[in-house]
Amino acid sequence: MSREWWRSAVVYQVYPRSFAGGGREGTLAGLRARLGHLAGLGVDAVWLTPFYPSPLADGGYDVADHCGVDPRYGTLDDFGALVAEAGALGIRVIVDIVPNHCSAEHPWFRQALAAPPGSPERERFVFRDRPNNWISKFGGPAWSQAPDGQWYLHLFDAAQPDWNWRHPDVVALFERTLRFWLDRGVAGFRIDVANMLFKQEGLPDVAAPGLTPLRPEAGATPYENQPELLELYRSWRKILDGYPGDRTTVAEIWFDAAEHAEPYLGGDGLAQLFDFRLMPCPWEAAAFRAVIDDSHRLARRSGGSIPWVLGNHDVPRMVTRFGIDQDLVRQPTAEVLLGQVEVDVALGTRRARAAALLQLALPGSAYLYQGDELGLPEHLAIPAERRQDPMFERTGRAFIGRDGCRVPLPWSGEAPPYGFPAGDSPELGTWLPQPPGWGPLTVAAQEADPGSTLALYRRALAERRAHPALGDGDLEWLDLGPDLLAFRREPGFTLVTNFGPGAAELPSHEAVLLASGPLDGSLLPADTTVWLR
Ligand code: GLC
Repeated sequence: MSREWWRSAVVYQVYPRSFAGGGREGTLAGLRARLGHLAGLGVDAVWLTPFYPSPLADGGYDVADHCGVDPRYGTLDDFGALVAEAGALGIRVIVDIVPNHCSAEHPWFRQALAAPPGSPERERFVFRDRPNNWISKFGGPAWSQAPDGQWYLHLFDAAQPDWNWRHPDVVALFERTLRFWLDRGVAGFRIDVANMLFKQEGLPDVAAPGLTPLRPEAGATPYENQPELLELYRSWRKILDGYPGDRTTVAEIWFDAAEHAEPYLGGDGLAQLFDFRLMPCPWEAAAFRAVIDDSHRLARRSGGSIPWVLGNHDVPRMVTRFGIDQDLVRQPTAEVLLGQVEVDVALGTRRARAAALLQLALPGSAYLYQGDELGLPEHLAIPAERRQDPMFERTGRAFIGRDGCRVPLPWSGEAPPYGFPAGDSPELGTWLPQPPGWGPLTVAAQEADPGSTLALYRRALAERRAHPALGDGDLEWLDLGPDLLAFRREPGFTLVTNFGPGAAELPSHEAVLLASGPLDGSLLPADTTVWLR
């Protein structure tokens, strides 16, 4: 049976502003110059978070022009060259599409603000005389006031007005946008906050307005999962299918219960949606197994594809998540939200390596976040005045926000900017400051070290290529006790992850294919994953 490439793909998420410079910030030329890193890693595709013209009120998720390249990153020609050069290396390019909201600088929103209440210009957005009780995902009310007193809806920052998806201009704008990037050779789209575009008519109040930044509430609010979305994504699928080759749509949908994800899957609408539920998982076999089971069953039942995610630009890095008291992962306290936690980086690194091998052996597709292949920890100590994430101020500084996982990558050298050219004013450093002590984590240092996390990822992806059955398919759980997660995949492939505090006996095997850390004879040490034949 011929299966679409994206069902098994390992996709690497590039946050262009922090991937490779450039200057204080990354650029598309910087990314092109570092494509060798991605080819060496062995990924099938890259997903680029927004690089469109934007005032960067939310790191580019405030898009002022959907069909352009922000000059800080380069030009459309640079984008074309990127697609061509990546393609020559066998790497597809997926781009982000941000359809829930735009930038307050988008020409249509400027026109709306300049036009009077009740005008056609305001119809493209959600203007009302009175706000309801919705809370912004970044904290504070989801409504801001125009100078004439009307309110406009923004589920995120005030600089990100929500579109009115019942307006034909909005539908047409995004159809044009899809075609614009498809014409430039993209292999698909990651759809930002894909479940929120339509709001229930009448905009009813929510029962319990509130904000939980680390675990966004998910499910049945009047601004999520409205039935019109299914039809919209069917129409998008038709557009994608009009182009040769198979192209994907992968939706950002935070869900807790499978019932909220299921309607989107397996039909003629969305190709894929992420499962983010491994990210808030404490380091515990049962917690991981519950998510994997639920998601895998959902994928099999629906015929859909649900890529596994351990990190992205919105969530603290896994080395840090796994390196803190795991009760705090289960129940984040105010101190955790402020980053005031003790981190055992060595422990977090061991577990992150074990988690990576687990992720890469699960059936289906996997998304890797830039820097996770280097085992970077969250940078918790960014000074308040350098923080950029709007969540920091909108939560009254009760949550340090997402900057700590967005720090520019360390490429080489012993000190910042670690080979990320610092531009004309080196004293300023990179746009988000890098911490001291990352010398051993640079790409150059890890390339020279066969025991490095980078070397582990490379070997894992090479094994995955050598065993296509490790992609899409099935898994069979093995019961080896409460601390061990173990499954078999064809042909003759077994994975065991030891979540427990002590070493455990390995099941019988012919050979060890790969291990996330040193084995102890026939024992699998704590916080270690092994791939066996
Ligand atoms: C998504 C993005 C996040 C952004 C938000 C608003 O959750 O991943 O970075 O802030 O949407 O666009």
